[in-house]
Amino acid sequence: MQTRVRKAIFPVGGLGTRFLPATKAMPKEMLPVVDKPLIQYALEEAQAAGIEEFVFVTGRGKGAIEDHFDRSFELEATLRERSKLAELEELLRWVPRAGTVAYTRQQEPMGLGHAVWCARHFVNDEPFAVLLADDLILSKQPCLKQMTEAYGRVGGNMVAVMDVAREHTKRYGILSVGKENGPLVEVKGLVEKPKPEAAPSTLAVIGRYIIQPQVFAHLDKKAIGAGGEIQLTDSLIPMIGQMPFHGYRFEGQRFDCGDKVGFFEANVAFALARPDMGPEVRRIVQNYAKG
Ligand code: G1P
Repeated sequence: MQTRVRKAIFPVGGLGTRFLPATKAMPKEMLPVVDKPLIQYALEEAQAAGIEEFVFVTGRGKGAIEDHFDRSFELEATLRERSKLAELEELLRWVPRAGTVAYTRQQEPMGLGHAVWCARHFVNDEPFAVLLADDLILSKQPCLKQMTEAYGRVGGNMVAVMDVAREHTKRYGILSVGKENGPLVEVKGLVEKPKPEAAPSTLAVIGRYIIQPQVFAHLDKKAIGAGGEIQLTDSLIPMIGQMPFHGYRFEGQRFDCGDKVGFFEANVAFALARPDMGPEVRRIVQNYAKG
C-alpha cells in the first residue's frame, strides 16, 4: 500500500501583475469565478481528495487569503440572527478546522520550485499534493481526487497532464511520453517551457501534482532553470526512473485563470454549469453572440 496523500501545498506568492489594477491591493487568488475565489476552488478540490492539512506559501499583501480561511464570528452571528441558516451552513462547510492550515512566506519570488521548498518543514517525510489555483478545472469528479485514486494503485510521482497546441509548449512543463495505460502516461522525461520546435511532445503539466518527499533533496540545491527561476520541474526530473512517475490525463475542462481571456472563459463556463443561473446566462451569452 502507498502512503495516503494527507497534505497539500498551495503556492500563492505570485504578484498577479497580469490582472492589474484588480490585484493592486487584493491577491490574485481571491479573484472570484462567479462567486467563489480561485483559491477556494483549489482548497475544496483538495478537501474532496481527502487532504487533511493545507499549507499556503504566501507573500506580502496576501492577508485576505488567511482571513478567507478563518472563521468570521460577526458574519456568522449576523446570519444566525437573521435565520439565514442555509447560508451559515454553506459558510462553515469548507472553512478548514483549527490547526489544519499553515501559512509561510516565500520571501523572494524565486519560482515554483522555491515556493514548494519553502513548505518543506510542514510536509516532512510524506507524499504531498501541490495545487496551482490559476489552473481551474471543471469536471465531474474533482481532478485531484481522480489522481489520488490512481495514485492509490501506482504510487510514486504523478502530474496532471493535457494536450496543448504546439505553439503553447513554452508556457508549460512538457513530457517525454512512455507507455500509456488508460489515463496514465509513463513519464520518460520532462522539460520546462520548451520552444515548440524543441518540445518532446505536446503533453503539458497542469497545476496538480502528487510528489514524494525525496524531491526536497533536489530542491535544496536551488538550481536555477527556465526563466531564471527555481523550477519544480527540474527537481522532478532526477526522480524519473527512481520510482513510478506518471502523467494523468484527467477528465474535465481546464481554464488558465492566470490569463485574462482564460479567466473570463472560466466565468462563462462555471456560470453556465450552475443550475441557479445557467439558463439565464445562456440566454445572455447567446444574445451577445448574435451581435
Ligand atoms: C507552472 C509549472 C509548469 C506547468 C504550469 C501549469 O508554470 O512550472 O511546469 O506546466 O505551471 O500551469 P507557470 O504557469 O507557473 O509558469
